Amino acid sequence: MTQTFTPRVFSGIKPSGGLQLGNYLGAIKRWVDMQGKGFENIYCVVDLHAITVWQDPRELKDATREVAAGMLASGIDPTTSILFNQSQVPEHAELAWIFNCVARVGWMNRMTQFKDKAGSNAEAVSLGLYAYPALMAADILLYHATHVPVGEDQKQHVELTRDIATKFNHDFKTDFFPLTEPVIEGPGMRVMNLRDGSRKMSKSGDSDMERINMTDDADTISKKFKKAKTDPAPLPETVAGLKDRPEARNLVDIYASLSDMTPEQVIAQYPGAGWGTFKPALADLAVEKLAPISTEMKRLMADKGEIDLILAKGAERARAIAAPILRQTYDIVGLLRS
Ligand code: TYM
Repeated sequence: MTQTFTPRVFSGIKPSGGLQLGNYLGAIKRWVDMQGKGFENIYCVVDLHAITVWQDPRELKDATREVAAGMLASGIDPTTSILFNQSQVPEHAELAWIFNCVARVGWMNRMTQFKDKAGSNAEAVSLGLYAYPALMAADILLYHATHVPVGEDQKQHVELTRDIATKFNHDFKTDFFPLTEPVIEGPGMRVMNLRDGSRKMSKSGDSDMERINMTDDADTISKKFKKAKTDPAPLPETVAGLKDRPEARNLVDIYASLSDMTPEQVIAQYPGAGWGTFKPALADLAVEKLAPISTEMKRLMADKGEIDLILAKGAERARAIAAPILRQTYDIVGLLRS
């Protein structure tokens, strides 16, 4: 007999270093769009993932609140969606341990994000950083989530989640865990660095000019787009002309994602335009869409108690789903519960 699973979305963001535009376009904006579409939506600030690299304990709580504020300011509705921080639902860590015993070392060795993050220092990074994808699988499968909207950089981790579910189901002769679908679509899946179109935009990086932070004010957003690196040629007449022009491609994709257009539609609106035309248009669009979010984040951060209350209520609702799934997992594995 094959189980049927409730259509359920799970996704998360680490509270390390603040939110940047890639988090918004690759994740949060799409989470907002997935509300009211027939899914149960569960969105998580994954603080246990953040501590796989050093986090200053004096800053971590506020970083967690700030990510929650970013989600709320962008339009996540905590009354319909479940919004919480991971460490308030201990079942995540418990299921992660079970999955540590399912996943194979060879699978972990193939994780490109670990290789990127560990670099030449792989012997000295935390064991948690290595085991991180098993915790991510636990986040997802603890809710029997069927869909996971993420940016492209997380694709391999969602594929590993499917491998873990498949092996668990096979080893224990069950169909208990679903094969979760990654949802990776649209022009915001891979937002690149504004100074180097071959690198993804990220929270860490040498210069603040290479990324848009979700807390940047209108002037800063505008300045960063106007100073973004490009090649000297104007925009092409068709999208095919963006090939091998990573910086131009990135700015067109960002415009498309912010305006809910396709890159083809953006090019049709600005065929052959010079940067003197396109960059100010992009800067204006970004300010129009992002400045209200940063203003609302600041307002929300002024009342930390309110954010904490939202996260506590969300954690309670999350636990109501997670606890029975963990109990059943323990039973399947043969762990004694008296
Ligand atoms: P994190 O915190 O690095 O990023 C959160 C989300 O933002 C997306 N993202 C981007 N999308 C497009 N362009 C970019 N430049 C860009 N930068 C970040 C990421 O793809 C992600 O969707 N391991 C995850 C967090 C996590 C998770 C989960 C996600 C833990 N458990 C369960 C989904 C389901 C991470 O580190 O994301």
